[in-house]
Amino acid sequence: MLRTKVWRNLIISIAVTIIAVAVLTQSIQSAQTSPSNQASQTPASNTSSTSSSPTQVSGVNLYNTYCSACHGSNGSGASGPALNTGSWSDSSKVQAIVKSGKGGMPGFQGQLSDPQIKAIGDYVAALKK
Ligand code: HEC
Repeated sequence: MLRTKVWRNLIISIAVTIIAVAVLTQSIQSAQTSPSNQASQTPASNTSSTSSSPTQVSGVNLYNTYCSACHGSNGSGASGPALNTGSWSDSSKVQAIVKSGKGGMPGFQGQLSDPQIKAIGDYVAALKK
């Protein structure tokens, strides 16, 4: 009788530990993706960092940091033209404009690395309305 009780307590405490770990991991993940946290990550500190963390070449993060102010989230357009029209489905054309700029748009060569520009181009090329 005593043994079954010990086993049951053991199983319960293992289950509680697993749930606690799961909740903790989830809250850490949501803290990392929360907008307030992204805002504190300035572009300057991003480019000066030499580590190649996945976020640095993540097209969507880079787009939201460098492009969305003028082209809207998801390329829906703002002061800059919409990019989700289907005309920009060629990543290399997008990359060329990001590098050199166009009209009222600044070029990003020097500010962004080639892999970062490629990630943005791939992201924009995949945008759909
Ligand atoms: C300061 C505002 C601004 C920022 C930031 C900006 N753009 Fe632009 N972008 C413009 C404007 C304005 C145009 C239109 C230029 C023209 O045709 O004279 C444009 C044009 C473009 C075009 C060509 C669209 C067309 O229909 O001619 C592409 C592609 C583009 N931008 C991609 C990007 C990407 C990708 C980023 C982020 C790396 C970005 N832009 C950042 C303002 C901006």
